[in-house]
Amino acid sequence: MPTLSLSPSPTPQLELPAVAFFGRSLAEYTRAFALDLTALRGRDVLDVASGLASFVAEACARRIAAVGVDPLYGATAAGLEEQVERDYVRMFAQIRAKPSLFRLRAAGFRSFAAAEEERRAAARRFLDDYAVHRLYGRYVGGALPQLPFFDGTFDLVLCAHLLFVCARQFDFDWHLAACRELARVSAGEVRIHPVVGLDGRPYSALARLRRLLRTGGIASELVTTGYEFFAGSGSMLVLRKGPS
Ligand SMILES: C[S@@+](CC[C@H](N)C(=O)[O-])C[C@H]1O[C@@H](n2cnc3c(N)ncnc32)[C@H](O)[C@@H]1O
Repeated sequence: MPTLSLSPSPTPQLELPAVAFFGRSLAEYTRAFALDLTALRGRDVLDVASGLASFVAEACARRIAAVGVDPLYGATAAGLEEQVERDYVRMFAQIRAKPSLFRLRAAGFRSFAAAEEERRAAARRFLDDYAVHRLYGRYVGGALPQLPFFDGTFDLVLCAHLLFVCARQFDFDWHLAACRELARVSAGEVRIHPVVGLDGRPYSALARLRRLLRTGGIASELVTTGYEFFAGSGSMLVLRKGPS
């Protein structure tokens, strides 16, 4: 995977591999997206840019009909495991080097060691589930801004740690197209977390993005969740088709 240059930036922020293959647990998703897991039982939920998150595996175990999509799906479980090692070592080195950027307690962790342990456990859960279920459609290869699903397939569409955090890799037009695509495959809501860049600052073109989405019939709402792994990230953007 290509790597970003490590040139100094005026605002402290993480310097990550182009888009790190990383993943969180169902517990973190529940807080980041303010999910009601009981209400989601039997519902179709899509996790876009699912990566190594164990959300899909854990949600399916709770009888939520969850599907993950990520450009790296399609690789073998062994191939993904190698990627895990590479990206995790780099991610946690970055995290430990810049502790002031993080709000561990607001994300439910006692320490960096606890966060790393839980993230590695989530990756393990994902890899075990992926090895069994990738052939049965639970994990689908695909990338924004064009997803391989029919219109309105999912009751809820989630997307964590891709839009806005990777604003340097993806331009405004990409973000707009990605939001429209997330809304296209949703029959209900889209929830995107976080709504800030890696420097913890709000996405600078958010007002323009929301205005253009509204013009195209997609209403949006900024919702505070309180889940904040890196500073400033405690909110999500909710999209719904229809008048705002
Ligand atoms: C930081 S991980 C986020 C994993 C998970 N959503 C989470 O929050 O724990 C970002 C993921 O985005 C995926 N990705 C990169 N480009 C993408 C694209 N154009 N469309 C969808 N996913 C993409 C990467 O492969 C990676 O798995």
